[in-house]
Amino acid sequence: MIGTKLGPYEITEEIGKGGMATVYRAYQPSMDRHVAVKVIHASMLGDEVGRDRFQREAKLIAKLEHPHLLPIYDFDGAHDPPYIVMRFLEGGTLKQVMEADRLPAEEMLYLLHQVASALDYAHRQGVVHRDLKPSNIMIDKEGNAFIADFGIARVSDAPKDLTGTGNVIGTPGYMAPEQARGKVDVDSRADVYSLGVIIYELLAGQGPFDRENPLEELMAHVQEPVPDIREANPELSANVNQVVQKSLAKDREERYATSGELVSNLGKALKKQASSAPSQLRSLTQSFAAEQLVALEEHAPEAKTPSDIQRQMTALHMDVTDFAELLYETEEADRVQRAIDRLWHAFQGIAEEHGGALESRTGEAGLMLWGREEAHESDPEQAIRAALRMKAAIEQASVAQLGATQAELPFKAGITTGPVLLTREQSGDSSGRPMTGRVG
Ligand SMILES: Nc1ncnc2c1ncn2[C@@H]1O[C@H](COP(=O)(O)OP(=O)(O)O)[C@@H](O)[C@H]1O
Ligand SMILES: [Mg+2]
Repeated sequence: MIGTKLGPYEITEEIGKGGMATVYRAYQPSMDRHVAVKVIHASMLGDEVGRDRFQREAKLIAKLEHPHLLPIYDFDGAHDPPYIVMRFLEGGTLKQVMEADRLPAEEMLYLLHQVASALDYAHRQGVVHRDLKPSNIMIDKEGNAFIADFGIARVSDAPKDLTGTGNVIGTPGYMAPEQARGKVDVDSRADVYSLGVIIYELLAGQGPFDRENPLEELMAHVQEPVPDIREANPELSANVNQVVQKSLAKDREERYATSGELVSNLGKALKKQASSAPSQLRSLTQSFAAEQLVALEEHAPEAKTPSDIQRQMTALHMDVTDFAELLYETEEADRVQRAIDRLWHAFQGIAEEHGGALESRTGEAGLMLWGREEAHESDPEQAIRAALRMKAAIEQASVAQLGATQAELPFKAGITTGPVLLTREQSGDSSGRPMTGRVG
């Protein structure tokens, strides 16, 4: 598939595989942009009738427009294999965020409010997601959530499954009991349940019914009482447990009527407001984006499209959020901001001295690139040297501002390098192998 064309889209690499489709990154020359192309496994559609239905339902879904729904640009259900074209998001998924770190409650609420607003909007249009799970919540570099794959579970489900017994499409760990039972009239409350599972996982660090075997997990959702979330996280209150229990009620009549209601009740129970600037989330998604930029492993394109140029690039991601937080403990906000700006000014100078350039910065975190104009064999080494100098700069700043060196320096850094696929626009894109992990 890599190096071939699907309609006007030039497939450049595989991004991921799910149960019913493979997702590729592709280049769309007419718009000079990168898109995500989801190619549905032929077996998911069945016969002619299945294809017609796919076409009809995809049209319906493509009509949904909301700031927190991942936009669908195009689809072709008549093509073999059928595909859906969506906005490409490089910041990773909520699944990756959950695997990397536990978010502060304020930042969870920030995400959950966005997700709930998109869900409620779609439900008002009469569309149920049916496969809501962390890997279907994409995050951009600013920390904003976008629900992906709305209704796809339904679109790609062959008609014979609908009339037959096993209409079980979705992911076992997040599926509502009525959906697991194969009830045909699954409605918005199934999505409220899935959101409840995601919330459980965010707060407890584990799912309510984690089992080795997917079938057992499915059965547990159907039959077993939801464990008190305080068993997994004793810091949570009885009120939080109540909200979680209600969202995960076996009987959908007992659940919250809308996702918005669920999330606002969760906020009250946690006694927390949604954050206005989710710095931890931003830092995580920026580092995912940096990894994306350089680190897409084996899938080097076999045949390059004429618009592509292959080049070696090295990315250095720095994040001094922890340092800023230490400063906030003793300093006024604007003084902290100035100190962080000075530090970033120094980073930029250091990067330039070592042949790199500051590519982007949001608050405390930023990305520096080597080999953007012209690649040099020494780029990775220069980037490491620069990172060490930056580490020294933080050490200095830390002595100056806090009066002592910290036992553990309060910053995170990552370096990745690899052959990067550039387009005419030089929008950095990739395929390579991560070289080093954390420095410092
Ligand atoms: N629009 C997109 N932009 C960037 N990456 C995407 C996009 N859609 C999907 N992906 C990536 O592709 C992977 C596979 O997607 P999918 O086939 O929907 O399976 P799943 O949602 O079960 O993971 C996702 O986990 C995600 O990392
Ligand atoms: Mg998906």
